[in-house]
Amino acid sequence: MLKGKHIILGITGSIAAYKAAMLCRLLKCAGCEVRVVMTPMAKQFITPLTMATLSRNPILVDFFDPENGAWNSHVSLGEWADCYLIAPATANTLAKMATGVADNLLLTTYLSARCPVAIAPAMDLDMYAHTTTQHNLAALRSTGVAVIEPGEGELASGLTGKGRMAEPEQIVAEVERLLGEKKKSLSGRRFLVTAGATMEPIDPVRYITNHSSGKMGYAIAGELARRGAEVTLLSGRTALPTPDGVEKVETLSAADMYTAATKRWSESDGAVMCAAVADYTPARTAATKIKKGDGDMSILLRRTEDIAATLGRDKGGRLLAGFALETDNELANAEAKLAKKNLDFIVLNSMRDSGACFRGDTNKVSIIDRDGRTDHPLMTKREVAALIVDRIESCLNR
Ligand code: CTP
Repeated sequence: MLKGKHIILGITGSIAAYKAAMLCRLLKCAGCEVRVVMTPMAKQFITPLTMATLSRNPILVDFFDPENGAWNSHVSLGEWADCYLIAPATANTLAKMATGVADNLLLTTYLSARCPVAIAPAMDLDMYAHTTTQHNLAALRSTGVAVIEPGEGELASGLTGKGRMAEPEQIVAEVERLLGEKKKSLSGRRFLVTAGATMEPIDPVRYITNHSSGKMGYAIAGELARRGAEVTLLSGRTALPTPDGVEKVETLSAADMYTAATKRWSESDGAVMCAAVADYTPARTAATKIKKGDGDMSILLRRTEDIAATLGRDKGGRLLAGFALETDNELANAEAKLAKKNLDFIVLNSMRDSGACFRGDTNKVSIIDRDGRTDHPLMTKREVAALIVDRIESCLNR
């Protein structure tokens, strides 16, 4: 797992720097390429000669070589690395990291690094427990830095407590874990997904709805969440469990769904409109159960708002995808909806395709955008969801 990985090992001025020699050795034995950056103070604790010999690379301390002026580029070093490991990390260094101080090469490299960063703090127990240190660690954690907790035991001061740098084997295992975590492709993105059938109340016991099961929309919400997105699922009537990592908001009527969607649209990166939204709702909902009379009855229906079209009018740079379920004139109808609702793409289902109808676990779709149409074979709804989220990713990366 670590074979061939590029690791920057940052060493700061702590007595635990002696363990950095073993750490470097373990990383090398695991097949990593290691480049060592030291703070000027770290040189007092372990010699550059030791670290250069073990890492088989020159040690970097200064911004440039005073002999010949050669520049040690923290930017290219940051780009080179798969992981930046600072071990030991003193209270001073982690305070500087938390506040963006950049007064040595180790710190400028931290600010330039695009790779995962891990730190192994080492200090006396009171320094470690101090509110300021804990505050700095919390700030670093919140930016994604992995903090490898120090152990408890005898400290250089002679006191006993928490502050000993974690053992090298444990640190290597943590680096391995960190590199094994695949960066999720949609981390930091927020999506709205509408799903299921809306219910339009006629009276307290009756409503107008449709056959949509919500399976397709729920599968898409789950897939977006699996890829790291923050997902709010605006759900009409379904009997489905909420997918892991998804926030579900129950929006039973078209009007509820409209209010919830428009409220959240400005803070979203995109929306997938899967819900089967009623186009008409009873003009009046009776407060009590309607009693039958002798003759026929009619209910006046009023148009609902088109949620997708409303979001499309205020689209900005956001992504908007919709669905079209058609029984005839499929392509022309889907293309008209693509344009009318200002969608980036539309997923067409035809009721004429077997295996693509309501409630089932399979679907057969065509994805249509302004450049044309791609037809896909019959697949599970989960596979279709992956296909749609792939398309979303390629639109976002365009
Ligand atoms: N949609 C919506 N709000 C509505 C109606 C539809 O957001 N009030 C969305 C659906 O979620 C879907 C797309 O618009 O993504 C197309 O829905 P569809 O019911 O196929 O089309 P309509 O626009 O309602 O047109 P028609 O019923 O005439 O086919």
